[in-house]
Amino acid sequence: MSTSPELDQMMKELKEIDDTKVGVRGLVDSGLSKIPKIFICPPEKITKNNDDTINSPLQQVPIINLEGFNQIPSRRAENVGEIRPALETWGFFQIVNHGIPTSVLNNLLRSTREFHEQPKEMRMEFYSRDNTKKVKYYSTGDLYQTKTAQWRDTLSCDFDDTTKIDLESFPEICRKEIGDYINRVNELNNVLSELLSEALGLSSNHFASLECFEIQRLLCHYYPPCPEPDLTIGIMKHSDPYILTILLQDNIGGLQIFHKNQWLDVTPVEGTLLVNGGDLLQLITNDKFKSVEHRVVTTKAGPRMSAACFIYLSKKNQSKPYGPVKELLSYKNLLIYRETSFLEYILYFASKGLDGVKALPHFRLTNSDN
Ligand code: OGA
Ligand code: NI
Repeated sequence: MSTSPELDQMMKELKEIDDTKVGVRGLVDSGLSKIPKIFICPPEKITKNNDDTINSPLQQVPIINLEGFNQIPSRRAENVGEIRPALETWGFFQIVNHGIPTSVLNNLLRSTREFHEQPKEMRMEFYSRDNTKKVKYYSTGDLYQTKTAQWRDTLSCDFDDTTKIDLESFPEICRKEIGDYINRVNELNNVLSELLSEALGLSSNHFASLECFEIQRLLCHYYPPCPEPDLTIGIMKHSDPYILTILLQDNIGGLQIFHKNQWLDVTPVEGTLLVNGGDLLQLITNDKFKSVEHRVVTTKAGPRMSAACFIYLSKKNQSKPYGPVKELLSYKNLLIYRETSFLEYILYFASKGLDGVKALPHFRLTNSDN
């Protein structure tokens, strides 16, 4: 979009929201019954399907029970055999018996709520869009790239090395809860790195040896209740640009994934974690594992809390080129993507903003942009 009076006006209104430093929550606190015009989305970005039968219980993201996977070889093989088709067709799966106590999950969601609902002075001090900051609080996502206001606030925490977490850098109100969660997710991530390697027929430590499976960022989202949920969106349609996302959501609902050309509700199941492949996983698996688009619609109920933990490359590898894993290529599975570094990818992804055209096709050797 080139500059125009309309765009200038829009950017001005977005900046006004940013300048309050109190998020969408701050707007809701002021007691509004209608959402500000800037949040209104074109209806086609919110509406679902003509065919509501898609949301039948038969159409649910596969649930994988990890119980005993590490003690009983046949259970492990079973889990690997469930993960493979889930990532090939859905791009998503849910896990139960993942080893993280429900109390750790609930504490993270509760303290996320407490962070976003504490007196404004306390959260304002973290408000920033400075990407060099490891801990920051901001509203409505990447609003300047996406150029649309979205109905959510986020606390973002970056980790260089999850074995040396500096708890002091996190807001006090959720410090312990974030630390506990990240320690546990770290163990789960190591398990997933092995199971996904095996699901591709590679040796268990393949992804670990590529050093591409490291926890880098945790986003603690807060979606305030919305007085006009049919008019705006919590998070726009997007795919995650990373390797993998481990997502914890509360019981409010609103997450939808684009499956078989339809938007499908991901009904919350208590105690489960959702896992989804990101664009870089699709790239290094040469299209075998899919990075599927998803979004979050708003509701009058709420607030809704979720925590998205992004797995990708540690800082030292972010400018190193990665391409499809050689062992996966054959005359039946020819190379599809060129090598790219994480930094090159994320720069291109960010330049498009959410809800744009997909970023991944740009890296195909045939170089089609669709
Ligand atoms: C994300 C995301 C979904 C959610 O942060 O990329 O898709 O439920 N979040 O908050
Ligand atoms: Ni996402």
